[in-house]
Amino acid sequence: MHWKADVNILFVASECAPFVKTGGLADVIGAVPKSLEPLGGDVRILLPAYPALAAQVAKGARVLAFDDLFGGPARVVAVQEAGLNLLLLDAPHLFDRAGNIYLDGNGNDWGDNHLRFGALSWVGAQIATGALDGWQPDVVNAHDWQAGLVPAYLRAQDGPTPPVVLTVHNIAFQGVFGADTVDALRLDPALFTQDGYEYWGKVSFLKGGLAMADKITTVSPTYARELMLPEFGAGLDGVLNARKADLTGILNGIDLDVWNPADDAALPAPYTSKTLKKKAQSRAALCTRFGIDANHEAPVFCVVSRLTEQKGLDMLLECLPVLTGAGARLAVLGTGDKRFETGFVDAARRHGGQVGTIIGYNETLSHLMQGGADAILIPSRFEPCGLTQLYGLRYGTIPVVARTGGLADTVIDANPAALSTGCATGVQFSPVTVAGLAAAIQRTCDLFRDRPTWAAMMRRAMAHPVGWDQSARAYMALYQGLV
Ligand code: ADP
Ligand code: GLC
Repeated sequence: MHWKADVNILFVASECAPFVKTGGLADVIGAVPKSLEPLGGDVRILLPAYPALAAQVAKGARVLAFDDLFGGPARVVAVQEAGLNLLLLDAPHLFDRAGNIYLDGNGNDWGDNHLRFGALSWVGAQIATGALDGWQPDVVNAHDWQAGLVPAYLRAQDGPTPPVVLTVHNIAFQGVFGADTVDALRLDPALFTQDGYEYWGKVSFLKGGLAMADKITTVSPTYARELMLPEFGAGLDGVLNARKADLTGILNGIDLDVWNPADDAALPAPYTSKTLKKKAQSRAALCTRFGIDANHEAPVFCVVSRLTEQKGLDMLLECLPVLTGAGARLAVLGTGDKRFETGFVDAARRHGGQVGTIIGYNETLSHLMQGGADAILIPSRFEPCGLTQLYGLRYGTIPVVARTGGLADTVIDANPAALSTGCATGVQFSPVTVAGLAAAIQRTCDLFRDRPTWAAMMRRAMAHPVGWDQSARAYMALYQGLV
């Protein structure tokens, strides 16, 4: 395919790796622009200037200023970092605060999140309509609810406005606030309707975006279909059905430079599919780090995850007797809901030497886990795409996944047909229940004992294409079609 003209694309997002990350959204925002560039995409990312970006703000140049952005002065600072063009929204009254970017010290949403991300969307709309000198987007790609109001703000502008693509990374987070926020958010009250941002008498950032964006994407084809079902739509399945013609699923990829077992500083011995034996050194390091006794007869499973209801890890807690009974080991790295944190800390105490838990967010350790574990467990109740199974594939760490969303689209289950034709790359299970997961763990342990089959599966997993090439083309085709 030949890409004629260059396309200017404005990303509006609340996270971006390697600067600020709570989950997969950050990885995606930090990776896609680099894959769009060779296709003619000039991406600028509008991102809040949280404290983690202070050094970048100090280096950058001011390109926009506002006397009063939702309660205080603000500016936009442009800077190039890590191969990305960042537009940092420096608004200290909204973003200069310690701790989690979404939650206060008690784990509750910041009380002014509507203003924080309303301001992000509002500034996105200003840039979209030409507020910057010398660069204007042909298309805006708004990501998740935090950028959901971009189309609403654009509707209220006079004159032509660029088309907006809204990408749904997770429908469970919608940004719903009281109707009394309309004024403070500088929203057009005329759009407080069923076709606008109104949702059951409240203001919904995501619903507004879904109703008013020109196109909607989500991060896997299966999740695109699931979103239109009541079980997965989180109350927005009706809205998505109404927009079915404009909804597509484009699978996430991963940054092959950041996630590369052949060149990963977090591993004691980097390896390739030709030097798989070296993976044993990472395995040993992982076991030591988690206080686990290595057992060579059964797999070491790992979990690297936000600990929330979505991820289905309560089911894993119930399966621990099966896992340890089979001689397997488990290393868990995660943070999130207290009940899951406590559950895994207790489990490590109960199953000393077999289960290890580290509560916290640790990027380097997450690499060691992908390098050292034999298998990665992802029993999600829903999973828009999921990235950790893709890292697992790349590191020859066999993904054991619920058959849902992007997990269903990226892992080839080791069923008899796949085994006999030599195409399996992992283990999938459904129904997504405790019994389903227990059976999958047992099946993985059985496969592990068949060493030639397991080794072939590892090599096949490592050869599976998990980069951005194909999906970047799909995004580019979508943008081209709009401009
Ligand atoms: P989600 O975005 O729903 O959290 P993904 O699988 O798309 O799920 O992305 C999760 C990302 O966050 C991955 O890059 C994963 O390695 C990372 N991650 C999750 N929890 C942790 C943690 N405790 N420490 C380090 N990285 C983590
Ligand atoms: C969300 C989803 C996850 C997806 C990520 C990046 O956080 O939960 O499945 O991979 O966004 O798109």
